[in-house]
Amino acid sequence: MPETIRIAGICGSLRKGSYNAMALEAAKEAAPDGVEVDILRLNDVELYDADVEKQGWPPGVQRLREQVEPARAVLFATPEYNYSIPGVLKNAIDWLSRPTGEGPLYGKPAAMIGASTSLTGTARAQAHMRSVCFYNAMPLLASSEVLIYRASERFDETGLVDEKSLEKVAALMEAFVELIGRYPEN
Ligand code: FNR
Repeated sequence: MPETIRIAGICGSLRKGSYNAMALEAAKEAAPDGVEVDILRLNDVELYDADVEKQGWPPGVQRLREQVEPARAVLFATPEYNYSIPGVLKNAIDWLSRPTGEGPLYGKPAAMIGASTSLTGTARAQAHMRSVCFYNAMPLLASSEVLIYRASERFDETGLVDEKSLEKVAALMEAFVELIGRYPEN
């Protein structure tokens, strides 16, 4: 039997009722057979500090690295804060990018989805994420964009319920799995 393709689904929001966490759940649901999305939350990831890094990975960072290392690919779900990437997500990426050129993100195919309450639905945060992925040599899914705008209208307490958004998430997952297949296991 072929091995399961594991995707690390990193949620850029810490809050319990996060729309982005629910968007990741929808991506997990939409993943085809043989593909598993592991949803990772960042609540216990310490702040990046080069002095701390010299002494070894702190426990929250160590856990996150162990979760991302075995993944074939990374799916980011990001809110947008002040027209950019939320600090908690950027902080986690900073840790995961270490050491430069050898961190657990390096070279892994990436895709992103985002939900926000505004009309632009994380477009600016996602544009900034593309630069971050470029620095980490992550082949990026280019064709599918999932911008879940006016998120309060598209989720209920059970998760993402808007049909069009669900279709977009499913299309992104299909294209992402195809992209992952083009890169050798890392
Ligand atoms: C926001 N929000 C927001 N939304 C947006 O589309 N563009 C933005 O620049 C900002 N800026 C911003 C700053 C700060 C400090 C907060 C707290 C919020 C709204 C934000 O995207 C919204 O609250 C999302 O619902 C957060 O995602 P989760 O927590 O639901 O996943």
